[in-house]
Amino acid sequence: MSRQLRAAGIWGTGMAVPQKVLTNADLEKMVDTSDEWVTTRTGIKERHIAADDEATSDLAAAAGRHALEEAGIKAENLDLIIVATVTPDVSFPATACLVQMKLGANNAATFDLSAGCSGFVYALDMAVRAIESGAYNRVLAIGADILSRITDWTDRSTCVLFGDGAGAAVVGPVSEGRGLLGTDLGAEGGQGHLLTLPAGGSRKPASAETIEKREHFILMQGNEVFKFAVRIMGETAHKSLGKCDLTPEDIDVFVPHQANIRIIEAARKRLGIPEERVFVNVESYGNTSAASIPIALDEAYRAGKIRDDDIVALVGFGAGLTWASAILRWGR
Ligand code: UT7
Repeated sequence: MSRQLRAAGIWGTGMAVPQKVLTNADLEKMVDTSDEWVTTRTGIKERHIAADDEATSDLAAAAGRHALEEAGIKAENLDLIIVATVTPDVSFPATACLVQMKLGANNAATFDLSAGCSGFVYALDMAVRAIESGAYNRVLAIGADILSRITDWTDRSTCVLFGDGAGAAVVGPVSEGRGLLGTDLGAEGGQGHLLTLPAGGSRKPASAETIEKREHFILMQGNEVFKFAVRIMGETAHKSLGKCDLTPEDIDVFVPHQANIRIIEAARKRLGIPEERVFVNVESYGNTSAASIPIALDEAYRAGKIRDDDIVALVGFGAGLTWASAILRWGR
């Protein structure tokens, strides 16, 4: 195995969301909420919800297919697929294995990664390290989640927040000076209880009791996650920028995790980034967990907001509690 380090970055991105759209007006008929509350407290207007026969690997494979087209490579040229998700199709096999089969990426190794909404940036970092080392050449990094399956549709404090989707990036070697310049990944494992799916794992397997207690749905202390998010987004962005001798002023396009417009605004102000450099699409998709950042990145790119040599900052936080930021110089 070659040990030489080489630059690695994004060759192409893609995304996929289910067809069905659930608006705030629809939610008003399901729980005691209002379009006004959801819009002012979160910035969300609508979200996409998976059909009954749609699973995470379906969306992940669709996003992956678009990213492969954009990158101009065939699935059989992939040598690694990483899927970041907290809603795998099944506990095992890994969703990445199902994506491999769906894409016909028969030469790719596969694994899933669980880092909540930070998952895609974790996957991107792992993909880049794999390529930098010379061990792998073409990696597909995907963030995909169908949170609607683990959402308590009777709990107004959480059900208005989430949506389903997938985003993907093909990662490969790029010219020196481009690609991933710096990252900062981390976790405060002691805070995991603030955002969790209590039952269905080895600690508390599914039982009549866990079902009755509604423990197969997302349990979140929203206020605490909010405070963590505002603090950590600024901190991690500074750390990853510092690793490549850049400052917030150097950021051309800021692509934050799309959880809540108030969190994005607070982070933007703390970092001193002008509004026009921040990409926001939370109004259309809600919080799509690991898919949020790659969907936003793909939309920003397709909208012509990212050009070669732009400095792009990806900043996320999520279940764990985890955080992740990545600074890229765009282009191959
Ligand atoms: O990817 C990471 C995932 N997690 C997050 O990003 C969550 C981060 N947290 C948040 O985004 C915010 O904390 C929320 C949007 C979840 C909540 O906003 P908040 O400003 O922190 O509201 P709150 O929880 O303090 O609730 C304020 C009030 C409460 O009523 P009282 O006790 O003041 O009478 C809630 O019962 O708003 C009420 N409320 C609602 N009212 C109408 C909570 N949810 C709703 C709702 N509709 N959907």
